[in-house]
Amino acid sequence: MQESVCLTEAMTGRSSPDPLRYAFDRKTGAHSGGGNTSVPPDQSLQVWNDLMSRKGEGKRAAYFHIPFCKTKCSYCGFFQNTTRSKLVDNFVNQLVLDIERTAQTENAQSTPIHAVYFGGGTPTDLEPQQIQRLGEVIHRNLPLTNDCEITFESRFNGLTDEKISAIVDAGFNRVSLGVQTFDTFIRRKMSRIDSQEFLLDRLEKLTATDQLATVVDLIFGLPYQTMESWMKDLEMMVQTGIDGVDLYQLILMGHTRMAQSIAKGSMPQPAGISEKSDMFSAAVEYLDQQHFRRLSVSHWGKGSRERNVYNHLAKSGADMLCFGSGAGGKIDGHGIMLNRTLDGYGEAIERHQKPIMGISRPHSLYKALYAAAAAFDLGYLDLKKMDQAGFSFSEHCQPLFQAWENNGLAIRKGNFIDLTLAGQFWAINMNQGLHDYVVQFSKLSTILNKQTATAA
Ligand SMILES: C[S@@+](CC[C@H](N)C(=O)[O-])C[C@H]1O[C@@H](n2cnc3c(N)ncnc32)[C@H](O)[C@@H]1O
Ligand code: SF4
Repeated sequence: MQESVCLTEAMTGRSSPDPLRYAFDRKTGAHSGGGNTSVPPDQSLQVWNDLMSRKGEGKRAAYFHIPFCKTKCSYCGFFQNTTRSKLVDNFVNQLVLDIERTAQTENAQSTPIHAVYFGGGTPTDLEPQQIQRLGEVIHRNLPLTNDCEITFESRFNGLTDEKISAIVDAGFNRVSLGVQTFDTFIRRKMSRIDSQEFLLDRLEKLTATDQLATVVDLIFGLPYQTMESWMKDLEMMVQTGIDGVDLYQLILMGHTRMAQSIAKGSMPQPAGISEKSDMFSAAVEYLDQQHFRRLSVSHWGKGSRERNVYNHLAKSGADMLCFGSGAGGKIDGHGIMLNRTLDGYGEAIERHQKPIMGISRPHSLYKALYAAAAAFDLGYLDLKKMDQAGFSFSEHCQPLFQAWENNGLAIRKGNFIDLTLAGQFWAINMNQGLHDYVVQFSKLSTILNKQTATAA
């Protein structure tokens, strides 16, 4: 029996003179996984009740999903329902019940919640009084820390002055907006209908409240985008004086309208890996020159307002209470998915049940696997800290770490492994590689232990 994990190129990347472009062929899916098992549907509610009757651990967050959009953007795979006021009204009533009931569990009240995130879909499609009501309900029912980061994810379309006032009055202290690009022509090609002038006007209005960390998402690698237009997006973002930015590389999802238009030839091909890596590299250099603070491999802040609490907790596998149709959460490493259809969600609420669509049980080493995921999000592995999560990375993963170093993806500095620029670009692949390595290592150890026990 072989005693060490067989390293594959999918784990190590490949040796090349230009690892930023060539270490891997393509980015792996956004969420590293593997080693989880599904709970049979007829046991889901029992597992949920067991989890919620125990105390939570560590820093926790809460996610609220508003599953409505007015229009469907061409690149997006998150669209669920077209906004209709009657549907939204019903949903908000059900969401309030979901919050009030879940909040009564031992788990929900056991330790403070450090971050709240209203995402979607788009929470912008809520009416001002619904925003106020939900803000009041979460403050009354959940044990939020005094410095809880409370984010409202927003689209520009429909973000009126009245809604901005409601967001502030409801106690939100952060707004995250999907700019994607400031280029009006490219935006409209993605079905993002508002013009650059409108975006700038809304950002000015949000910053003028002086109550909100205002952060935006930009996407690089969109069809029609060039290095020149990408640099203009970054410059414009800096000029607005906002508090932070997330940079996403375009993931072309097969079922989206964008993918269909590209396949038909009515839209140009998006950037390939080498153009995307050039755009990433130029962005890192530019934001560094502008003295933006690096808060993660893909997120930057300016000034003291932006802390990026929710995003980092979500990527670290922290407990995440979840509410709303289509919301995803996590309790003690178990993945929780709530019903994605409005009917299914509403019917469960009527039966006084949590609208669970599925639960997955984590791998036995999930704490270690999440410690690694958190480290990749930050761009460096603190081995001393990671070793405390139930698995000795420093002892068992040397061959993989050495291969990353040889392939230009990481640099070892004592107890730290720092990702190079190439490593930052390929962080998700490396995280998946380490995840697979640990899962295989633990399988191998279990087999070897059994063999030793049998022999004895
Ligand atoms: C879950 S989406 C919701 C955004 C929000 N509904 C809006 O329209 O602004 C959050 C962010 O993911 C990013 N995103 C969505 N689809 C993407 C894709 N196909 N590739 C890369 N980033 C994507 C966008 O930057 C978006 O702002
Ligand atoms: S990008 Fe946002 S607004 Fe557009 S379809 Fe997706 S979730 Fe809806």
